[in-house]
Amino acid sequence: MIISLIGFMGSGKSLYGRLVAEHYAMEQIDLDDFIMKNEEKTINEIFESDGEKSFRKLERRYLNELVETKNNVILSLGGGTPCQEENWSAIRKTTSIYLKRTHHFLFHILKAKKANRPLIKNLNDDKISELINTMLVSRAPFYERADHVFDAYGSKIVLANRLIRKLDVIKSKRL
Ligand code: S3P
Repeated sequence: MIISLIGFMGSGKSLYGRLVAEHYAMEQIDLDDFIMKNEEKTINEIFESDGEKSFRKLERRYLNELVETKNNVILSLGGGTPCQEENWSAIRKTTSIYLKRTHHFLFHILKAKKANRPLIKNLNDDKISELINTMLVSRAPFYERADHVFDAYGSKIVLANRLIRKLDVIKSKRL
């Protein structure tokens, strides 16, 4: 079983992917980390030297590779991965979960954690807030395609435990 976590930047895909994977003793792979490791460049460097289009090509290639070669893994995708139509043939092969957060929640996280995110790293707080507004509207229909939608609010431990309980149910239905 491959579980993919999808959602906007700052929705907790990497953090909760790690915590949940630890609980189930599963492997966890972060697509952005996998791209950086294989390309030997940061996401910022890829955007700066080759542009977003090239990043999207790499993202698609490595997503397909992971989905074809891995099993029993939690895949934390990038915020834009499910918003590329051509990535859905791969995402459909996984059990996808949308970690859904409000604008307010995302804004408080992203304004403090923008340095490694090329789409927002040069924006001030007002612009980040605007970008979340417009991008959430255009991206939500893609995120909502996920097999499961999970309201990703609450403290770290509470949220991780709720997500594990949700996954227990999802896993039991697949047995
Ligand atoms: C992106 C999200 C990032 C990363 C890249 C583009 C996006 O991942 O893939 O900067 O388009 O939303 P995170 O969601 O992990 O920040």
